[in-house]
Amino acid sequence: MSLQVPTFRSKPPGHSPSTKAVILVGGPSRGTRFRPLSLDVPKPLFDVAGHPIIEHCLSAITKVPEIKEVFIVGYYDESVFRDFIKDSAKEFPHISLKYLREYQALGTAGGLYHFRDAILKGNPDRFFVLNADVCCSFPLGEMLRLFEDKDAEAVILGTRLSSAEAATNFGCIVSDAHTKRVLHYVEKPESPISSLINCGVYLFSTECIFPSIRSAIKRRTERPRLVSYPSSENLESSFYAEQADDDGEDKQEVIRLEQDILSDLADSRQFFVLETRDFWRQIKTAGSAVPANALYLQKAWQTESTRGDLAQPSANIIPPVYIHPSAHVDSSAKLGPNVSVGPRARIGAGARIKEAIVLEDVEVRHDACVLYAILGWSSKVGAWARVEGTPTPMTSHSTSIIKNGVKVQSITILAKECAVGDEVRVQNCVCLPYKELKRDVANEVIM
Ligand code: GTP
Repeated sequence: MSLQVPTFRSKPPGHSPSTKAVILVGGPSRGTRFRPLSLDVPKPLFDVAGHPIIEHCLSAITKVPEIKEVFIVGYYDESVFRDFIKDSAKEFPHISLKYLREYQALGTAGGLYHFRDAILKGNPDRFFVLNADVCCSFPLGEMLRLFEDKDAEAVILGTRLSSAEAATNFGCIVSDAHTKRVLHYVEKPESPISSLINCGVYLFSTECIFPSIRSAIKRRTERPRLVSYPSSENLESSFYAEQADDDGEDKQEVIRLEQDILSDLADSRQFFVLETRDFWRQIKTAGSAVPANALYLQKAWQTESTRGDLAQPSANIIPPVYIHPSAHVDSSAKLGPNVSVGPRARIGAGARIKEAIVLEDVEVRHDACVLYAILGWSSKVGAWARVEGTPTPMTSHSTSIIKNGVKVQSITILAKECAVGDEVRVQNCVCLPYKELKRDVANEVIM
């Protein structure tokens, strides 16, 4: 294989541009911060607001009429997304959805490059790239408009944090406020440079992004470590043939948009930022699924077409609340706001649930209280028990808090098949699968 990128034909007059989309899902060695929930389900398939995380991305993509082809790119086993793809084909029959598997982690740009032939098939003009672990309103239509207005080569979605200091944990964008042009991009800068950060949603012209990745690969291969692969013909084989390290990833092979590509685009390309004023969160830690659940439920509640999927408000339902049709909630239980109840879950009389995700087959017995928590598959919460976390400000991007001088999770998480005894209180804990809690616990990881 050579490093040659297919040549692009200039588009004839009157040509209507075509667009594809890629959702980056990573693989089993990613999502470690999502443990213990990712021990049982790959993070992109974890249910938030009643739907797998990845479905929120896909559903936004399907609202862009000109997108007919979507790729899920990752290095999970082929079987992982099979059912999701089958179900999506029924729900979105006008879209072709395929999984493209990297043989190992190639990085957020390396995966795109590896599958460039599939992406470029049919000669599309541009394509969206969405990080699957992002929760936002995905204003893809607005990104397309900016792309066209500016005759852009790349558009990035940005959001503003309260301070440039807080932004140093993210990719930071320095832009021209008037033209929206990206002047400078630095991933997790050492000192504050801007409060505008990368949301992990991009629109790239096919003519710009592949040559940029190719240049980054070339720079990488020209580093001293790779002098044993000097010829241009085997640049690509050297790039892809190195031995994996202990994590199953060869850091030398990994090419990342954030570290290796975006700052170059800012220097040399027509690169613009669309600043969203709508909600945005990352879904990194398991606890971050709770604020993401709240944001997606609130959005569904405010949108006429999805409002009907949620439980109707009543004395005991404080919206927004999602209850799966197969779940059973006693009429005296009080739920909400921001609660999702999964298939076949049973919620007993007098129970109180708020700011929580209750997964499949969970049982919450009478008069139990569940606040700021995730109850894992088939877990049981006893009568009069309390499973609770601590509220954090909606604007906070962290799911940890300091309690008694120790950093703990603000969300209490029970993994699969945990059992909390009657009248037991579990506070700010992360509980690994199959644990039985018979006494009160606080600020602990229960292994
Ligand atoms: P940090 O945020 O730096 O801790 O890393 P992360 O793995 O949590 O997220 P990152 O920002 O690197 O990844 C952004 C998105 O790309 C996530 O949806 C990841 O699952 C996905 N991703 C990361 N690495 C790869 C990769 O090698 N291949 C593919 N296909 N996707 C990836």
